[in-house]
Amino acid sequence: MTQINWGILSTGTIAKKFASTISQLTDCGKLLAVASRSLATANQFANEYNIKAYGTYQDLVRDPKIDVIYIASPHSLHYEHARLCLENGKNVLCEKSFTVNAAQAAALTQLAAKKKLFIMEAFWTKFLPAYQLLNKTIAEGEIGELTHFRAQYGFAPTGARYARKFDPALAGGALLDIGVYALGVAAMLLGYHPKHLYSSAIIGEYGTDKFNSIMLEYENQATAHLITTIGSIIDPQAVLFGTKGHIVLPNFSALQEFTIEKSDGTRYTVESPFEINGFEYQIRETEKCLISQKLESTIMTHQNTLDVMRLMDKARSDWGLTFPCEAAPA
Ligand SMILES: NC(=O)c1ccc[n+]([C@@H]2O[C@H](COP(=O)([O-])OP(=O)(O)OC[C@H]3O[C@@H](n4cnc5c(N)ncnc54)[C@H](OP(=O)(O)O)[C@@H]3O)[C@@H](O)[C@H]2O)c1
Repeated sequence: MTQINWGILSTGTIAKKFASTISQLTDCGKLLAVASRSLATANQFANEYNIKAYGTYQDLVRDPKIDVIYIASPHSLHYEHARLCLENGKNVLCEKSFTVNAAQAAALTQLAAKKKLFIMEAFWTKFLPAYQLLNKTIAEGEIGELTHFRAQYGFAPTGARYARKFDPALAGGALLDIGVYALGVAAMLLGYHPKHLYSSAIIGEYGTDKFNSIMLEYENQATAHLITTIGSIIDPQAVLFGTKGHIVLPNFSALQEFTIEKSDGTRYTVESPFEINGFEYQIRETEKCLISQKLESTIMTHQNTLDVMRLMDKARSDWGLTFPCEAAPA
């Protein structure tokens, strides 16, 4: 594989952002096709990028020219759609949250391994250059030993999107939608295996979490407190505390700058703006893996996805929240 040919499964908000990103990249492969449940919707999307339109997802996965499919459907459908891609020999980049639960995630990574295909969660945050700079800052001991990570994030969708974001049938709610960012970044900074997770949630009118609060405790006594919510706007701000100061992350899920404030009074900001919109780095990583025939990214590993899914499973079990798609067949 020298030039990577992409397909996009679904035509929603984030599928549009992804298409726009890949079409602006000059050092990457080509977007060849898009699929929607409706041919009219697919045509509308395809016309903008001069690509092929398919009126079913099945038709997209049967296109022999496509190497890799970006899945941007709702959470509850990721498992079914990733299976469809893998069963038809397609590599997969699947939006976060990767699946609804860890069991589904494990089944997908096992299937991909069996089929010798690449699969990765599109946890784009982990590929951002600003996080490489942050890791370097931490490793250089600028704020000493890490003691605590605090993150909060809330957004307020409008119109039909509001109900969709909470819909239990789509595995809606704050945790799978944006809590995954807070947990994923806490894991990146403090580790993927906290000793304990304590959590609580407010379950809203749709039966999914409109607000959740998660505390993590690590073996080395570091802690994290994460709050995510849908329905009220809370800036995605995080602070990483250490024994010699702290670092403010003004937008932890889309990090482009952070400010170090040391206990000795030193204060400075590190900036690393996106080339396009931040999605370019996960696209490049996917292509790098495919070209070098790697079935798994070493940056965002299958285990990283499984570990975060397990933390989310634990939180939901604390709240007694399950989704209809998890019900045992009758
Ligand atoms: N990385 C990020 O920054 C980011 C941001 C937002 C969302 N996301 C993730 O991206 C995924 C999609 O989110 P989104 O905000 O783009 O959602 P969205 O706007 O609701 O779009 C979802 C698309 O999925 C398809 N779909 C298939 N079955 C569906 C069903 N039963 N109900 C509704 N849609 C269905 C539809 O496309 P067709 O009608 O064309 O089939 C729809 O346009 C989620 O996993 C979400 O967490 C990521």
